[in-house]
Amino acid sequence: MSVESVNPDASAAAALREPPLAGGGVPLLGHGWRLARDPLAFMSRLREHGEVVRLRLGPKTVYAVTTPALTGAVALSPDYIIAGPLWESLEALLGKEGVATANGSLHRRQRRTIQPAFRLDAIPDHGPIMAEEAHALVERWRSGEVLDVTMESFRVAVRVAARCLMRGSYMDARAERICTDLASLFSGMYQRMVVPLGPLYKIPLPANREFNRALADLHVLVDEIVADRRASGQKPNDLLTALLEAKDDNGEPIGEQEIHDQVIAILTPGSETVGATVMSLLLVLTEHPELGDKIRDEVRTVVGDRPVAFEDVRKLTYTANVVTETLRLHPAVWILTRRAVADTELGGYRIPEGADLIHSPYAIQRDGRSYERNEEFDPDRWLPERAKDVPRYAMSPFGVGNRKCPSDHFSMAELTLITAAIACAYRFEHAPGSDPRPRIGITLRPRRLLLRALPR
Ligand code: HEM
Repeated sequence: MSVESVNPDASAAAALREPPLAGGGVPLLGHGWRLARDPLAFMSRLREHGEVVRLRLGPKTVYAVTTPALTGAVALSPDYIIAGPLWESLEALLGKEGVATANGSLHRRQRRTIQPAFRLDAIPDHGPIMAEEAHALVERWRSGEVLDVTMESFRVAVRVAARCLMRGSYMDARAERICTDLASLFSGMYQRMVVPLGPLYKIPLPANREFNRALADLHVLVDEIVADRRASGQKPNDLLTALLEAKDDNGEPIGEQEIHDQVIAILTPGSETVGATVMSLLLVLTEHPELGDKIRDEVRTVVGDRPVAFEDVRKLTYTANVVTETLRLHPAVWILTRRAVADTELGGYRIPEGADLIHSPYAIQRDGRSYERNEEFDPDRWLPERAKDVPRYAMSPFGVGNRKCPSDHFSMAELTLITAAIACAYRFEHAPGSDPRPRIGITLRPRRLLLRALPR
């Protein structure tokens, strides 16, 4: 299947087959209950039914795409845009004017505005903050102490994203509030996605009230951050300055609402995804202590006895491969959705205009058809001589095409640095109450990690 074979010709599309319906749906909720109960297993088995499979989520029909080639085709085709159940629920948080939910020319202009902050040549500017936060993280911990890894991981993620992209001391006090708000918002939004019973979420139940409180607080926080930056009169070379100075297509400054939505649209995925991945990395280091030993050896060889710094990152190839393999087996973004804006053909099937499509990077990246010993954690599969055998689009934890994560290089540098700093300082074991099973929300992460930090 090539990208070119996505055929937008409506008359040809009308003659095509309808994708098979997945088994196991129930009245009213359809396959929603399966997605809610064991979504990873459910998504991972769908390829057995076909390359494109129909699902029912409540009253909606959704098309699941199950092969790497077809997920790449969807990501690269202009016939599929950002919309659908995930994004509708995310719009409540991310706003309609943020880069993560905008489409068409607005999205292109917004990507042009934000991209410079994430460009490869801009990342060294963020290096000192990343290194400072990575070392601050391990210095907060004490040998023998039991760590609540969820809070620790999200804190470092929020702090790096906020301090790098919206530089200023005003962020320090606010990181904790952002973490609390985002935790409530993400758990509420996943439920709204898989069980889309719209009006029921307006009933003032405790969970709905907490969702609304967190949402309101996050919006207040962002307004405070923008106001503080303006009041400071400073213009550091960062994302917030880029937004405050951005012009629209008519050369006018972009509106307050758009600045607000952009900050949320970037800070939110940035914190949630990196936090989830740091948690998964700590789980990996706990369950495979030999990886931590090898990372420490690599850091010693490259760096000697001084603390690891941003400039060392590109030489830490083994450490980076551990991060990559973690992203393969534990992709923070485990599900993605799109909407067809025309009648199209995908893999020989008819996709009608308006259809919602989903695919799971988790299922794709663990598929035995693409990877030998697919469930095994093997960082060496990312050595260049082996990585070349991985099928195209079978490893896309940052996405593909015009919606690809702007922060792929930024995140890899950050995660490699954090992993190196952690593995040099500590080994880990589970403490009582630790529950490493996956917690599946908007992102994928271990459920509750309580780890005892042991000295090296
Ligand atoms: C988009 C993954 C870190 C900001 C995406 C997408 C993926 C992804 C898969 C594409 C969504 C789609 O195709 O529908 C990740 C992972 C991360 C990470 C795995 C870290 C482990 C970050 C960070 C930031 C960020 C640190 C910002 C500070 C964004 C934004 C988009 C995005 C703004 C929307 C881009 C667009 O629609 O044009 N991310 N991300 N991400 N990510 Fe990330």
